[in-house]
Amino acid sequence: MKVFVAGATGETGRRIVQELRGRNISVRALVRDIQKAKTILPDEVELVEADVTNYQSLHTALGDSTVILCATGAKPSFDPTTPYKVDYEGTKNLVNLAKTKGIERFILVSSLCVSQFFHPLNLFWLILVWKKQAEEYIQKSGLTYTIVRPGGLKNENNTDPVVMQSADTLFEGSIPRQKVAQVCVEALFEESAKNKIVEIVANPNAPEKSFPELFTGVV
Ligand SMILES: NC(=O)c1ccc[n+]([C@@H]2O[C@H](COP(=O)([O-])OP(=O)(O)OC[C@H]3O[C@@H](n4cnc5c(N)ncnc54)[C@H](OP(=O)(O)O)[C@@H]3O)[C@@H](O)[C@H]2O)c1
Repeated sequence: MKVFVAGATGETGRRIVQELRGRNISVRALVRDIQKAKTILPDEVELVEADVTNYQSLHTALGDSTVILCATGAKPSFDPTTPYKVDYEGTKNLVNLAKTKGIERFILVSSLCVSQFFHPLNLFWLILVWKKQAEEYIQKSGLTYTIVRPGGLKNENNTDPVVMQSADTLFEGSIPRQKVAQVCVEALFEESAKNKIVEIVANPNAPEKSFPELFTGVV
């Protein structure tokens, strides 16, 4: 298995790369700036410069990767087209590429509340709307996918158990990015993670469950 990680220099993406490398899985990292990436990612990771909004650049970037893990996200910007371009068109480009290249699994980091139009996050140029559109494109693609919708992301890890539920059932809560990374990597191997949307937060009062139990619990 070789994992193509889009958004690898991001706060979640870099933890996904660490998690993959911790399990000795080969990583090909899609980055926008190789010099910046070298200061963030481990030496043994293959780095390729591309932009998800440019389909042609993705073609060569994918190389011999067998699965795609997408952790891109538009940064706050005055340009109203940014979430549309990155969170929708960019993901759509990766999905189209995955289809032409016979990619085995597609994992997307999305967000809680993507189905809520009247959500404050949509004040950022309808970002949740575009993420939802991207999710629907994946679902219709015929690819084997897992869509991971985390709550508010935190850089500090903690020992709180992960809560995992089905689409549009969790509306608040937060989760360390490290745990999101773990869930994404586990999803690559879990049979019961196939073709599911999972919503995740961390909660100190939740019972501790194994990843197979968590994924199986989601319909
Ligand atoms: N913040 C939250 O609380 C929260 C909650 C739920 C879900 N989410 C979602 O979770 C995901 C990960 O969040 P995060 O905060 O870890 O992300 P982040 O640190 O902002 O990283 C985003 C990544 O996307 C990359 N990117 C942006 N535009 C790109 C483009 N055109 N082509 C290629 N790469 C591009 C960035 O590249 P550069 O490094 O080159 O800029 C960066 O690596 C995002 O989709 C976010 O919306 C966030």
